[in-house]
Amino acid sequence: MPNKIMLPVLDDRLFLIASMVREGGVPLDVGTDHAYVPIYLIKSGICAHAVASDVNRQPLTNACVNAQKFGVFDKINFCLGNGIADIHPEQYEVTDIIIAGMGGELIAEIIDNSDYTRIPGIRLILQPMSSLQELRGYLAEMGYATIDEKLCRAGDKYYTCIVAEYDGIRREVPPVRLLLGDVARNEADPLVNGFLEFTCEKLVKKIKGRRMGGLPTAREEEMYREICEMARARGHIIPSLDETLGIKNT
Ligand SMILES: C[S@@+](CC[C@H](N)C(=O)[O-])C[C@H]1O[C@@H](n2cnc3c(N)ncnc32)[C@H](O)[C@@H]1O
Repeated sequence: MPNKIMLPVLDDRLFLIASMVREGGVPLDVGTDHAYVPIYLIKSGICAHAVASDVNRQPLTNACVNAQKFGVFDKINFCLGNGIADIHPEQYEVTDIIIAGMGGELIAEIIDNSDYTRIPGIRLILQPMSSLQELRGYLAEMGYATIDEKLCRAGDKYYTCIVAEYDGIRREVPPVRLLLGDVARNEADPLVNGFLEFTCEKLVKKIKGRRMGGLPTAREEEMYREICEMARARGHIIPSLDETLGIKNT
């Protein structure tokens, strides 16, 4: 039966997430929806079994249907529940917790509500769609070390996947690093220049919005300048904020 042997085709974002899971580990995919990541991990032989959870019944049903379609239904434990605490990850000996495709604040809340995330050696694989600064700030303040961080691009958007583990050490992280993460340090990654530009474009939108609302923008302007400097050090020129906003130097 051909559909029992095929792998689900992952887009670059889901593939990046899957690539962060340890071989031989037991992944828990929180907010699994389609369950493509656990299905892929099992079908490709990276993991023997997995746990897939969702707070909503319909996405979990989608997950079950897909697992049946790919012939791995018996290798995944499906759990209906909120976050991690409801799922009892200890009973499945979960090693790697994936929380992807949600806002950074919700991801932080899910992490915060579970003591299991504070067991050293348990890996958190996080792919926030928004509020990255807030999520990185939460991790730094609450004693989670970022042990890896990688970028991918899908369409005109960049996505970041953060791998973190609890070590109890609180860290002070400068605002620009909360915004960019560690990816900008990766000299070899060809996506970094585009990502720096993409981040500057978002900052410009924020600066314009704050100016229109009469709010201060010094912090955002400083981050813009720092990112331009980082890009310059990589041999990549990003126009200054004044140039971007159309303010002519006299
Ligand atoms: C946009 S989908 C992301 C699906 C997949 N993780 C991905 O990255 O493509 C978000 C999923 O998270 C689920 N979800 C939202 N809040 C949750 C929570 N507190 N606990 C578990 N699942 C949650 C939603 O029901 C939905 O299926």
